[in-house]
Amino acid sequence: MFQSKKKFTIIGNWKMNPDTIEEAKSIFSAISRQATKNSKVMVVIAPPAPFIPVLSGKKIHISAQDVAGEPHGAYTGSVGARQMRSAGAEYVIIGHSERRAAGDDDKIIAKKIAESLSAGLRVILCIGEKERDNHAHYLHEVREQIIGALSRQDKKKIQWITIAYEPVWEIGQSFDLALAPALIHEMAIYIKKSAAEIFGKKQALRLPVLYGGSLNSENATAILRDACVDGLLVGRQSLDPLAFGKIIEYANNLS
Ligand code: PGA
Repeated sequence: MFQSKKKFTIIGNWKMNPDTIEEAKSIFSAISRQATKNSKVMVVIAPPAPFIPVLSGKKIHISAQDVAGEPHGAYTGSVGARQMRSAGAEYVIIGHSERRAAGDDDKIIAKKIAESLSAGLRVILCIGEKERDNHAHYLHEVREQIIGALSRQDKKKIQWITIAYEPVWEIGQSFDLALAPALIHEMAIYIKKSAAEIFGKKQALRLPVLYGGSLNSENATAILRDACVDGLLVGRQSLDPLAFGKIIEYANNLS
């Protein structure tokens, strides 16, 4: 399948791992070496919030995993977008299925995005259907997530947004069950089509769409090569510098 040369974005979502700053620093510096060697790839790591200020490296960008929907105030336990930015985050993941499962609906997600954009964070918006059905209701679900999250955002900020398509039923599964590149390609087109309803066709065509869900160094290669996506959002395997490094290297060779 034809794939034009592009700069891929490879994001590692560490979720609530690892346990200590020492481990985080050691994984991060191994990834940073890979990122420096493969400089055509944009590498982003999303560590747990307390590790953000202590992790920095050349050719590697830092993302928060979530932010509060409010700017500041009496919200015990929450961290605001400006605070994440001040701690060193350049990006933020919003709408991850694990946050949606914990109660984030489209309204909350839209607020978090608006807060993040106004704080100067680049947004990685996660979307994805809970399950596939034979009547294509899942397409409706994905479209609703896009419209719900983005229709009220400042249209001029579209270049600050990346979409990560992560079918919920693919997250945390066996690596040999990864979605076929052709199905991901179809969804990437559908996502841009839905975004065009908000931003217009020209802008929506430029919107980066990443794929995530049970990626490892083996299944990632076919997806990067054939799925016409702009990069990947990797969970578990981003804590393994060897496996994650191979994904970065492959993306670099394709660029
Ligand atoms: P996984 O996680 O790669 O471990 O399936 C992906 C994600 O939740 O972003």
